[in-house]
Parts: sequence; structure tokens; C-alpha cells
Amino acid sequence: MNRSIQNELESIRERGLLRSTRLISGRQTARVSCNGRDVLLLCSNNYLGLADHPALASASLAAIEQYGTSSGASRLVSGTMELHEQLERAVAAFKKSEAALVFNSGHAANSGIIPALVGRGDVVFSDRLNHASIVDGILLSGARLIRYRHNDYQHLAALMEKHATGRSLIVSDGVFSMDGDIAPLAELATLKRTHGALLMIDDAHGCGVLGVQGRGSAELRGVGSDVDIQMGTFGKALGSFGAYAAVSADLRALLINRARSFIFSTSLPPSVLAASLAAVELVQTGEGDELRKQLSAHAIFFRSRLAAAGFNIPAGTTQIVPVVIGSAELTMQFSEALLAEGVFAQGIRPPTVPNGTSRLRFTLMATHSQTDLARAVESICTIGHRLGVI
Ligand SMILES: Cc1ncc(COP(=O)(O)O)c(C=O)c1O
Repeated sequence: MNRSIQNELESIRERGLLRSTRLISGRQTARVSCNGRDVLLLCSNNYLGLADHPALASASLAAIEQYGTSSGASRLVSGTMELHEQLERAVAAFKKSEAALVFNSGHAANSGIIPALVGRGDVVFSDRLNHASIVDGILLSGARLIRYRHNDYQHLAALMEKHATGRSLIVSDGVFSMDGDIAPLAELATLKRTHGALLMIDDAHGCGVLGVQGRGSAELRGVGSDVDIQMGTFGKALGSFGAYAAVSADLRALLINRARSFIFSTSLPPSVLAASLAAVELVQTGEGDELRKQLSAHAIFFRSRLAAAGFNIPAGTTQIVPVVIGSAELTMQFSEALLAEGVFAQGIRPPTVPNGTSRLRFTLMATHSQTDLARAVESICTIGHRLGVI
């Protein structure tokens, strides 16, 4: 192997940051088989358990029967299929926006939308803990990146007072992916109005989970109409794959003409579009309400038990429960010890989170059983004591 690549790998390993993937057999359900062992899955974003819901699977199979397996090309090349259009109409109705545009993934959405909106001479105000795909989009855009302290809208206000020129964009996760807290959306909306800026919210972890009928964090905070771009993903609570931007008709037209990840990539296949469409419909039903209620009860139970045991859990209420450990090595040791006890939870290290804030990121699913969660809490506490974390 090339020596410089070997050296780079060695340097990642020495810093305790080498990553690899684990083989999971079967479906992304509450319990999975990991290397032949039955374990409790506490690190999936399949929050409502829809990834193996029969309604999504049968919609997907029927779409393959009717439309085949591929979209064949980018939509600007071989056309929009009926399912793209149906899904976009359903998303716009769900999000109460004028229009919507589907992207191939959340990463493709963020890295396509932001450079379509801003470029050289413009400014992007971005929360310091925003998802990497947002940062990638900003870097691609060539706009000036100004980062504000996490959820600190007063800091943002001061920075906007000083630096807002050209076209300004405020961008934030709705629910922060590694911290599980919710952005101060009402304050962001006020700042956007004061400075005539655009506001973009990435609701990858709020869509389907928060707000009435799962419409997301902006709906929960009553600011849906202030958010110019509500981006969300189908691959998490919605149990499918891909992403959307809920926007005005003008913005949709601009994205079709400017978002390179939309223009230069083969569009999503029928099976995926149909599963997403079934999920958007399902989350708005009584069954969706029941799943959200269950998920919320699990989140309250799990957070309160671990906080009471003395773990460092940043304030929050959502289904993403971070247990901050600090050292990357200790975090991975904790994660390995948990797996040996039948609990699969991912250790999260830099560069995904800032240095010194490595953590276990537990994610809950509506389909977890109360008994399994109680047992997991016991294992986490026992190992936490043994490793001196609590
Ligand atoms: C906040 C946030 N935005 C965007 C993405 C990317 O979405 P996708 O996995 O669909 O590419 C993720 C996670 O993957 C995320 O957590």
C-alpha cells in the first residue's frame, strides 16, 4: 500500500479515532443480530420503527412492479416520474409549504441547496454544532462562513449586526444530531426578519417526530411560515431514504436550476419514492401519533434514569440522548463493554463532535420495549461505575 496512506491510517489509529463498520444481519429493528449475537439496537435513527413497516414495504414492492427499479437519469435528463411529483405534492401538503423538491439524500440536499442560495460576497451564519453536510455545503458555496456559539442567538444577533452583507443565510439543525437539543427557532426567525436574511432549518431528526402529525421542529415552535427552506430527510424517522426541501415555488425553481446535487445525479428510484410517500402518509395518521407518544415516553424514561445515575447528559427532551464522556478512548471502551453486554450504542468522536466531547449517542425507537430499555439502563450504569464515568 502507498506509504503516505499507511502513515495517515496509523496516525488516525494512534489518536484513538480509527473507525470501522459493524455487520448487522436482518432488519433495522429494536433488536438486531450483530456478529451472530442478539443485541439491543440503541443507535439507529429509525425512530418510529418504520424501516420494516409493512405499509412501506408493500408500497415499495408495488412501485417496482409498476415502474421498475431505476429512474434512469437525472430528472432534467430523462424526466420526472409520477412518483417524484406525487411525493413532492405530499411533502408540500405535509409541511404546509407552497412547493417541495426531493433530493437523493440529506447530504446531497445540504451540499446542493446552500451553494444554490449563496456564493462569493454572501454570508452564512451557521450554528457551531451544525451537521457536517451543512458545513460541506457552505464550503462549496464560496460564501463567507460565520459560526455562532451553539444555540446562542444573542451571539448570532451581534455577529449579524456586524457582518450581514450581500445575501445572508442563517442555517441551523432543527434537532441537533449529536446533542439532541432543539434550536431556538423563534429567535432565529426574528433575526431573519430583522436582517432580511434567508432562514434554512435542517430537520433531519425532527421530521416525523416533533410537532402536530410529525410536521417537525418549525411547526412545534410555530415558525413554519418564517423558515424559507425546511429541509428534512426520509431516511430517519420516515424509514425510507432521501431528502426534501419544503420551499416556495420560486425557490424550488431556483434549486432545479442551480443545485448541482439535483442537476448532476440520477434521481431516486421508484421503490424508494413509494416508501417515502407511504411514510409521509403514515406519520400523519393516528398510528403515527401513537408511535410518537411511545417514543416520547421512552425518551423521558431513558434520559431521566441516566441523568439520575449521574451521567453528563446535555439538556434536552428528544429521542437523541447523548452521554458525554470526554475522552475518545474511554468512549470507545464504554461502547465495546456495552456491546459485550448486548447493548449496541455508538461512540461518537471527533471530528463528528468537538475535541474533548466524545460521547455515547443513544437513540430511542418507538418499537423498543420498556423491559429492554430498563435492562439497558442497568448495564450502562454498571459499566459507568466500573469505568469511573459516574
Ligand atoms: C442533521 C443532519 N442533516 C443531514 C444528514 C444527512 O442525511 P442523509 O443521511 O440522508 O444523507 C444527517 C445524517 O445523516 C443529519 O444528522
